[in-house]
Amino acid sequence: MQETKTMEQIPETEPERQLYFMSRIKEENRLRAEELGRNLTYHIETFGCQMNAKDSEKLAGILTSCGYTEAATEQADFVLYNTCTVRENANTKVYGRIGYLGNLKSKNPEMKIALCGCMMQEQHVQEKIKKSYRFVDIVFGTHNIYKLAELIYRKNHGEKRVFEILESTDRVVEDLPSEHKYRFKAGVNIMYGCNNFCSYCIVPYVRGRERSRKPEDIIAEVEKLASEGIVEIMLLGQNVNSYGKTLSEPISFAELLRRVEQVEGIRRIRFMTSHPKDLSDELIEVMKNSKKICRHLHLPMQSGSTKILRKMNRKYTKEDYLSLVSRIRTAIPEISLTTDIIVGFPGETEEDFLETLDVVKKAGFDSAYTFLYSKRSGTPAASMEDQVPEELAKERFQRLLQVVSEQSELQTKKGEGQTVEVLVEEQNAQDPALLTGRLSNNLLVHFPGSTEQIGTFVNVKLNECKGFYYLGTLVD
Ligand code: 5AD
Ligand code: SF4
Repeated sequence: MQETKTMEQIPETEPERQLYFMSRIKEENRLRAEELGRNLTYHIETFGCQMNAKDSEKLAGILTSCGYTEAATEQADFVLYNTCTVRENANTKVYGRIGYLGNLKSKNPEMKIALCGCMMQEQHVQEKIKKSYRFVDIVFGTHNIYKLAELIYRKNHGEKRVFEILESTDRVVEDLPSEHKYRFKAGVNIMYGCNNFCSYCIVPYVRGRERSRKPEDIIAEVEKLASEGIVEIMLLGQNVNSYGKTLSEPISFAELLRRVEQVEGIRRIRFMTSHPKDLSDELIEVMKNSKKICRHLHLPMQSGSTKILRKMNRKYTKEDYLSLVSRIRTAIPEISLTTDIIVGFPGETEEDFLETLDVVKKAGFDSAYTFLYSKRSGTPAASMEDQVPEELAKERFQRLLQVVSEQSELQTKKGEGQTVEVLVEEQNAQDPALLTGRLSNNLLVHFPGSTEQIGTFVNVKLNECKGFYYLGTLVD
């Protein structure tokens, strides 16, 4: 009878249902902590991109609401790995570390181990965890992170192992507690998933179809963050330039930016990631006229060869990309451009690679994230002929790195001697006498200062360029 009564009390609607599970677990954890004579702790390890970092803040919010306190290491009672699968080496790293968690668990009977994120959406990964890592308690994917409390509850109430991975979802549960890593800057999801199906990329398979949040909901979240003291916002999506196209009342990303700009208290706006094929002149215009949108654009080019770009299904040519860069630089000369480049995509010849080097030189990137092509099973590129031998790809990768770092130093050097406004982010890890500040263009400067200045805007003179960052001094 008692059980029936409890069942009846569980709300059906979200987020009430999850809030209910959080309060139940919190009470159970409080009693357990009394028995143990210590607090129960959690630790989240995040792999991969900004999207995962944002998800981890939400997961941390749920665990805090369940009564866990944060531990700095994996010596904790609840350990969660939020995984990435964009490249094979991300997976290998995770397997190694799960093994290590097994050792820790044998020393702490209280410990629970949970895995989530992109890697868990893959069938072969789920099977391997089921078979070879039997000490893992909870596994979930990218579509149901909001349900963490419910999954813990199920584990605590009799289920031996909880596996819940959804193929897809059209629901987005917001309004749950979330932690912020920084008290002055925060990420805001504006859309989930990706519809582009670049032929090398696993993201559309593990994060699902593109879903935009309603502008009113985004603005309400930004306003709330501003009222809590957040001054810098990062709008997040796999392809922000196609934001809003599928909403019942369509709106462009440029229009969304105009609205975010109106929010009082927000002084800096950033966004990630732009796809060159969808970057509109309207967006360039909005950026140009904005006082708040940062002078930085991350514009993944992937390859400089039109032939390879076509095989990658990127939907632009080398010339399109260069012309876009030139339009952006003409409108906003002080902008910093960064990019992603893949080396060794199937069929890439020396000539194709030289085209990539050519774009790197012509575009004058401030920095570039460079990746060795990694074969992801299930993607079209995995079954393409002419896979490039690893040695050859590695050799090209080294040559690319050289050109990228020369270009990046050239660009960064241009800032030397200027005085700029920076947002102070943290105390320098190597030298506690120094603070680290971020420029509008996303570069970092280290300068002597006091920790009270963290979270404020200060003016700093960029005395010396150190390759991809500066050393500076405060200016009154
Ligand atoms: N191999 C190598 N790099 C990849 N990326 C995405 N998929 C792969 C892959 N299979 C890179 C792209 C993307 C970045 C986030 O990761 O450059 O922009
Ligand atoms: Fe992957 Fe292309 Fe989507 Fe980016 S735009 S997440 S590279 S499929």
